[in-house]
Amino acid sequence: MYRHFFRPLLFRLEAERAHSLTIHLMRLAGSLPGLPALVRTRYRAFSRPVQAFGLVFPNPVGLAAGYDKDALAWRGLASLGFGHIEIGTVTPRPQPGNSRPRLFRLPEDAALINRMGFPGRGARFVARRLSGRRTPGLVLGVNLGINKDTALDESAQDYVSLIKIFAPLADYLVVNVSSPNTTDLRRLQAREALDGLLVQLTQERGAQERDLGRKIPVLVKLAPDLCDDELDDALEVILQRGMDGVIATNTTVSREGLVSRKRSEAGGLSGQPLGDPSTQMIQKICRRTADKLPVIGAGGIMSPADAREKLDAGASLVQLYTGLIYEGPQLVQRILNAI
Ligand code: FNR
Repeated sequence: MYRHFFRPLLFRLEAERAHSLTIHLMRLAGSLPGLPALVRTRYRAFSRPVQAFGLVFPNPVGLAAGYDKDALAWRGLASLGFGHIEIGTVTPRPQPGNSRPRLFRLPEDAALINRMGFPGRGARFVARRLSGRRTPGLVLGVNLGINKDTALDESAQDYVSLIKIFAPLADYLVVNVSSPNTTDLRRLQAREALDGLLVQLTQERGAQERDLGRKIPVLVKLAPDLCDDELDDALEVILQRGMDGVIATNTTVSREGLVSRKRSEAGGLSGQPLGDPSTQMIQKICRRTADKLPVIGAGGIMSPADAREKLDAGASLVQLYTGLIYEGPQLVQRILNAI
């Protein structure tokens, strides 16, 4: 139904307009009394709960960051069966992001390229959207980033301010140091820079944990383009500083093997071509940390078999984004049925 009817309609629209329309529809669905809960009960039968970093996830499949940046539609999206939803990336202050067009479909490669640049309404707005009624059983993560005009050596202040705002509202937090669309952000994955950052974040996390009287899991989201030495450095720091897990991976700057004519657009590539590189990264992370660090696997999950591969590679949980665009919302249920 999606592939033959809705997808052709949506693909006629400019990619970002199609996304906005979907967000509006899911927001509407989430606001109809009783509907989200009703649909969710249908999916719960297929759930396999997962325990990771002190949280219980109703099932292993989540929505990746970037889809519901401003927390507009998460209640409706939850009804598709996701066990967790990652809001964001949220920046402290509102900002417009890069100029349009900034999202491109590459249908021949079952991929997307985006150079959104963290557009969003800012942390205060998102915090308001997250307070209030919660969907029972749904785990909510918030993915944190820095504003475009924040100097890299002041980035810790942005993350610290976001931890203060979102620690009371989120079940887990993600430090996004891997988006290719904010200048130099990925340099924060280097050993010294990451260590300096995580020291400050750990202090704020500790203060919040004391205030709230509960643990606040913090994960780091990594790029698939790190070489082995860079990955080793990052993992060592992440373990030393007591982070709770990693998300592998964000989008890639590689364009290997693409055939679509849009392949030379600048930005991060997601979808099918990212599948194998991200799975290899998950394997490396699990091997190098002797399975001590829980991993959320993301990148190119377009089918139940792709999700299985990520779990077999050692991921505790998986997340999707581009698969939803190409395969439709049924993909969540198909994966849950298969695993
Ligand atoms: C993303 N992704 C992303 N990640 C992140 O940490 N913060 C963000 O704001 C965004 N924004 C974003 C926008 C768009 C349009 C896409 C397609 C992706 C990356 C996303 O969360 C995920 O890590 C990758 O897309 C890989 O998964 P898929 O899409 O191949 O399933």
